[in-house]
Amino acid sequence: MNDVKERLDADLSKTNTLEKLNELKTLYMGKKGIITELTLKIKDLPNEEKREYGKSLNELKNYFNEKYDKLKEFFDMEEVRNRLKYEKVDVTLPGVNVSVGAPHILEKVVEELEELYLSMGYDVVEGPEVEKDLYNFEMLNLPKGHPARDAQDTFYIKGDEILLRSQTSPVQVRTMLANEEKTGIRIICPGKTYRRDYDDATHSHQFTQMEGLVVDKEISLSDLKGTLDIMAKKLFGEHVETRFRSSFYPFTEPSVEFDVSCFKCNKKGCNVCKETGWITIGGAGIVHPNVLRNCGYDPEKYTGFAFGFGIERIAMIKYGIDDIRVFYTNDLRSCKSFDKRGE
Ligand code: DAH
Repeated sequence: MNDVKERLDADLSKTNTLEKLNELKTLYMGKKGIITELTLKIKDLPNEEKREYGKSLNELKNYFNEKYDKLKEFFDMEEVRNRLKYEKVDVTLPGVNVSVGAPHILEKVVEELEELYLSMGYDVVEGPEVEKDLYNFEMLNLPKGHPARDAQDTFYIKGDEILLRSQTSPVQVRTMLANEEKTGIRIICPGKTYRRDYDDATHSHQFTQMEGLVVDKEISLSDLKGTLDIMAKKLFGEHVETRFRSSFYPFTEPSVEFDVSCFKCNKKGCNVCKETGWITIGGAGIVHPNVLRNCGYDPEKYTGFAFGFGIERIAMIKYGIDDIRVFYTNDLRSCKSFDKRGE
């Protein structure tokens, strides 16, 4: 056994790589290794020698394992040291370009408006795009055959009862109906809308609207004006003004169209406002008593205002986009340019 230990020491002293160390392990501890063979010999020894022999053998094994572990750790560390020495990070190499997505510009405008209205205590409510004629028209004071329906050339899906909503106004109806206690309401409803238009630079058969509805006691036209004024300033800058022009919608009385003073020329006249100094944003008014009544609200107790406008139009004006189709053609180049403009 002592010879073996001497030989092992000699071998270990010559071991200068991890590879060689592992070869040594096979040589001594492998299936047919020197120490393994010594172990097999135990069974042929007379009983009285077995104990002493076994003890020395264990010591030898432990000796080997200890040496092995120490050397292995040393070689491992050496490898790390070598790597640190020779592998260097070249900070001048060009980096890998990771492309990240960003919200679409229409989404950005919607989010900006949602943030504003949420801060004023409104809820954001959504409704279905496949809608009943009843909610899209009838309960909004637009019975069948009403001439104002023609202005919203509608996609009907099933007979004349189910359609693709032509406006977000049906969400007003749904919200009022769902409010069982008939308490006050403050909502905005963004979403997709559809009309049978031919697509061109300013028309799209599918577009985005945002509806607003406030129902409470003693709501007046001046509340509406103040609200739209805040919105216009948020969208286009503190310097813009708003104005109402009288208009007609079957679901409001009185009805108005609201304009903002041109944020670019400050009412002097330019290409953005088509030399008029003003830009039309959407429609609005005081909720018609018939609509309140249809939805279970007593028009003697409650009044409300409502408004609706197109998100595409706002995005086009705000970011100087002159063709509505760029929102939908999924051209990555325009999407990327939106990213920058939306910042
Ligand atoms: N729904 C109208 C449209 O699509 C916009 C509108 C006008 C909504 C007046 C309203 C409103 O809530 O009061 O043209």
